[in-house]
Amino acid sequence: MATRAKARQIDGEAGSGTAIGSVTVLVIHGPNLNLLGEREPEIYGRTRLVDIDKELKRLGRELDMKVETYQSNSEGAIVDRIQQARGKCDVLLINPGAYTHTSVAIRDAIAAVNIPVIEVHLSNVYRREPFRHHSTIADIAHGRIMGFGAESYSLALRAARTVAEESRRRSG
Ligand code: DQA
Repeated sequence: MATRAKARQIDGEAGSGTAIGSVTVLVIHGPNLNLLGEREPEIYGRTRLVDIDKELKRLGRELDMKVETYQSNSEGAIVDRIQQARGKCDVLLINPGAYTHTSVAIRDAIAAVNIPVIEVHLSNVYRREPFRHHSTIADIAHGRIMGFGAESYSLALRAARTVAEESRRRSG
């Protein structure tokens, strides 16, 4: 499929994440985030996506969580990846990039899979243009972390552990 071909899977060395923990977290990066490090560094910082993913996998091992990462510039591919996570992942971390502000399809996919979601942004979108202040997923997210650059992801991963434990406790 064309959209699939464009999608970029950045899994662990074995192709399926890293440490075998009891908690599985899927991290999805939306459009243009593949250019991190070069793209508007004054806003998004100089850390490359590959280094963010490496750090998340390292932190995952430390926290005993399996971390899978995925980036796509295509809305449909992101919807497909969210659907594939159904029943297979405990928490979803997502930075939908510009789709944050426009995508009903990504919102609907998140609502459909019933996985707790943490919305992540490198920049504090409320310090930026008004069109970035609206998020189609804010009201269905468990929480939102933004404004800490690459560290937003690490903070979100730490929070994901607690979210997963709470959600397991609730579902018995
Ligand atoms: C972003 C903020 C969005 O407004 C923008 O379109 C992005 C990145 C962030 O991480 O700060 O692509 O999601």
